[in-house]
Amino acid sequence: MSERETSVLLTGGAGYVGAATADALLAEGHRVVILDDLSSGHTDTIPNEASFKTGSYGETDKMEELLRDARIDVIVHCGAKSIVAESDEHPDRYFANNVQASLNLLNAACNIGVKRMVFSSSAAVYGAPTSSTINEATALAPVNTYGATKVAFELALRSFADAYEMQSISLRYFNVAGSTERVRERHDPETHLLPRLIHAAESGEPFFIYGNDYATPDGSALRDYVHVADVAAANLAAVNYLLRDGAPTGHNAVNIGSGVGTSVKQAISAVERATKRTVNVQVQPRRAGDPPRLIADITRAVALLNWRPRQSETTRIIRSLIG
Ligand code: UFG
Repeated sequence: MSERETSVLLTGGAGYVGAATADALLAEGHRVVILDDLSSGHTDTIPNEASFKTGSYGETDKMEELLRDARIDVIVHCGAKSIVAESDEHPDRYFANNVQASLNLLNAACNIGVKRMVFSSSAAVYGAPTSSTINEATALAPVNTYGATKVAFELALRSFADAYEMQSISLRYFNVAGSTERVRERHDPETHLLPRLIHAAESGEPFFIYGNDYATPDGSALRDYVHVADVAAANLAAVNYLLRDGAPTGHNAVNIGSGVGTSVKQAISAVERATKRTVNVQVQPRRAGDPPRLIADITRAVALLNWRPRQSETTRIIRSLIG
């Protein structure tokens, strides 16, 4: 199939990863239809070149109509609720949105014969693994409801691939961070490390480090930060993979990270260097459910999708956040 003629339905396209993905797909010449309920997305990040529909992906009839009318070839499913703490407080909402509504979308796609899907999954599917790096064969053992919903939908994709010849790729994002010229993280409340650190450096307000007694080289937790533009490029690579003539049916899970671990203390030093300010660090107890280390083995992403992180050095991510 010619890549130039393809239409992509992008759920959650008004969100952080979704908007960056829309830009990457459009730049490659794909037609993009964004569907977003605007529960956490922003209309001002929707590119002019994309068509936009507001609503939920959970209404099977409406989805069938949209998939048919817009002649969708591939679905990129970024839409989700994604706040870990909230997911444990309100599992009903997370299962309804991330699993039940996603299943309705999947059924609509199957009914219409749209048999390609790229799914935004998460390193949260692995829980708190002990291995130094995580590959896709690492056991799925989520430690929060958010991760459990991502596992549940991945398993559905696997079954649909086996039974109905769906082709799907679950991209397991590690710690997505950074800004592009058009897209930045706008979470409210902001819980993520790098935006919080930059805010602390610029405002002088205290920064709380959650635990400095982990069994890691400097005692603080290690994470794999991956630039949102690289994540968008991974979505594009997955779409192109599924559109290739003769792409095999089946479900593939693929880690998307930088492959490099950065500790909270290293991130503090990097933000201090970049902002030329001192962060007022206060040590707090560990945050519940935080794994000591989450670092991706990205061998499969390179082999299957020919994708590599290009902008994910932590200093570069931090510079993109500062502007
Ligand atoms: N941290 C602090 N202080 C802060 C914020 C974070 O010390 O103010 C620490 C955390 O304890 C953790 C690290 O910085 O060790 C990274 O924390 P983030 O909140 O930025 O990210 P998480 O690793 O907790 O979560 C990310 C994604 C989730 C996903 C998860 C996968 O945001 O969506 O990875 O496990 F589920």
